[in-house]
Amino acid sequence: MREPLLQIDNVRFAYAGQGATKPTVDGVTLIVRPGETLGLVGESGCGKSTLARIAVGLLRADQGSVRVSGADVAAPGSAARLARARRVQMVFQDPHGSLNPRLRIRSLLAEPLRLHKLTPPDREQTAVEELLRQVGLSPATSEKFPHELSGGQRQRVAIARALAVRPQLLVCDEPVSALDVSIQAQILNLLRDLQQELGLSYFFISHDLRVVRYIADRIAVMHQGRIVETGETDAVWQAPEHPYTQKLLASLPPEL
Ligand SMILES: Nc1ncnc2c1ncn2[C@@H]1O[C@H](COP(=O)(O)OP(=O)(O)OP(=O)(O)O)[C@@H](O)[C@H]1O
Ligand SMILES: [Mg+2]
Repeated sequence: MREPLLQIDNVRFAYAGQGATKPTVDGVTLIVRPGETLGLVGESGCGKSTLARIAVGLLRADQGSVRVSGADVAAPGSAARLARARRVQMVFQDPHGSLNPRLRIRSLLAEPLRLHKLTPPDREQTAVEELLRQVGLSPATSEKFPHELSGGQRQRVAIARALAVRPQLLVCDEPVSALDVSIQAQILNLLRDLQQELGLSYFFISHDLRVVRYIADRIAVMHQGRIVETGETDAVWQAPEHPYTQKLLASLPPEL
């Protein structure tokens, strides 16, 4: 079997000042294989976003290790940081917070291309338009500011920006939770299409089991900082083994 793309090994993390209470992430081991989507579910506050930040190197684990394509995400130094950014990017719940409101979309998308020296200046406009095309936006979008776009369009821009460095792995932390249900489906379909087109892997986080069921090949269930169950999506959905997973499923509102 091919080497995992993301390998989280026995990671423990406590926020400063948490004292003797249980750590927020308490001995988590997970892998994401090349080309797959691993969904992470669990109720609010169980540690999903904390784990996501550790997975991309924004937070440092107290114990354990995180490797992307075999390289330690916590490796120090700016060269290692740049190399890490080329492998793994993050998409957040709120594109309002993750996109600089003072920059036009053109500049927001050109920024990572320049930082990583990926495109000669005379090709920049073409590269920006290609990124917009990939996420289903028109070239005219490049002249707009983030606040001139709808929530769904803004999330498409955030995805385009994450894709600019051509990473292999996207860590998506509740990427559709702030959107209307109809727009949620569009963004989930876009992520699926991009996976087909680019061979991407996703570590996809949501408190919504239905969203994860739609997008994920495998599911991991998190409860109070620990992974209590992992399995193929259909298996977990149809025959959850852990009592907490059973409770999560039983508490779903009925299908509309
Ligand atoms: N910067 C921080 N400093 C201290 N404690 C924090 C910090 N961020 C999160 N926490 C705490 O860590 C725990 C886990 O938070 P986290 O954001 O990882 O949960 P989550 O599963 O992503 O929740 P949600 O579904 O609401 O997004 C919570 O108890 C939270 O209050
Ligand atoms: Mg969260």
